[in-house]
Amino acid sequence: MTDVAAVVIGVLKFYFTWIFEVIVSFIPVKPKDVSKDIVLITGGGSGFGHLLAVKFAKLGSTLILWDINAQGLQETKEQIVKNGGKCHTYVCDICNRNEVYEIAEKVKKEVGNVTILVNNAGIAYSASFLKLNDENIERTFQVNTLSHFWTCKAFLPSMLNSNSGHIVSIASVASFAGIPKLSDYSASKAAAASFMESLFLELQLSGKNNIKLTAVCPYFMNTGMFAGSESSFMKNLEPEYAADIAMKGILRNEIFVTIPKTLLIPYALKPILPPKAGVEMIKLLGIDTALDNFVGRHKVSLNNNTNEK
Ligand SMILES: *[C@@H]1O[C@H](CO)[C@@H](O)[C@H](O)[C@H]1NC(C)=O
Ligand SMILES: *[C@@H]1O[C@H](CO)[C@@H](O)[C@H](O)[C@H]1NC(C)=O
Repeated sequence: MTDVAAVVIGVLKFYFTWIFEVIVSFIPVKPKDVSKDIVLITGGGSGFGHLLAVKFAKLGSTLILWDINAQGLQETKEQIVKNGGKCHTYVCDICNRNEVYEIAEKVKKEVGNVTILVNNAGIAYSASFLKLNDENIERTFQVNTLSHFWTCKAFLPSMLNSNSGHIVSIASVASFAGIPKLSDYSASKAAAASFMESLFLELQLSGKNNIKLTAVCPYFMNTGMFAGSESSFMKNLEPEYAADIAMKGILRNEIFVTIPKTLLIPYALKPILPPKAGVEMIKLLGIDTALDNFVGRHKVSLNNNTNEK
């Protein structure tokens, strides 16, 4: 009987917390001032990272962009500088943790302590599980999950020192729903979101509760990453729109941002629906067929559809 009571209380607490968060998210508040912030964005040379960089630059932040794509970095920097913004770029392979630590030291010397870290870089291969090759699976986890550990290790200490700062993780709808034909991607995004949850609790409990954490979970976007995939039920998001919503959430210090907000419905239903309901949900949302036309950033054959943002 006490077990049943505990479960009921647990479920009520879960929903109370979420309902509260959702209500609070509708209350207008003044966005925070980021004009003095040093903002580092991984994968800042293209796609979603590029859009966020331009938006932060407009608000007066000093941008530090990391990417493996030097040309994308250069183009983003030119655009920001042309509009009067401040931007520094570094070619960095975030899969290599020693490189992350080395370039982080360089950033601290050349620009200063990072006050907003945006773990945005991501990679997606889409194929049914057995068709994914081992190297791709490893790379997915290196880019989408492990790199967050290395960047946080590099930039959290100065945030702890001043009990201020903000860490943002660009996760995905796949963080809370395993998507067919994206098994590695979904698992890596779930792990990234779970990392944020643990870190949030650690910081709160250790008294460093002025360091903000935000996990952004957008639905699939029309960036190169998911080119060609589209569900029959829900159109892919326009990246510009998604970046606006993400910025809004970040500037309000929201902890969990879904784009669109209606994704909170499947999120909230998941714990109470039986697992098999997921099959019907995926069919209803047309996600089972959405990835059939996946071409990604490069049109390549199955088993080799790599795609980085
Ligand atoms: C940067 O952070 C370090 C601690 O990691 C601190 O000692 C240093 O004073 C900070 N620098 C500035 C300019 O705030
Ligand atoms: C994957 O694509 C790259 C270039 O796009 C090519 O060099 C490589 O041979 C391909 N690998 C497989 C397994 O098809």
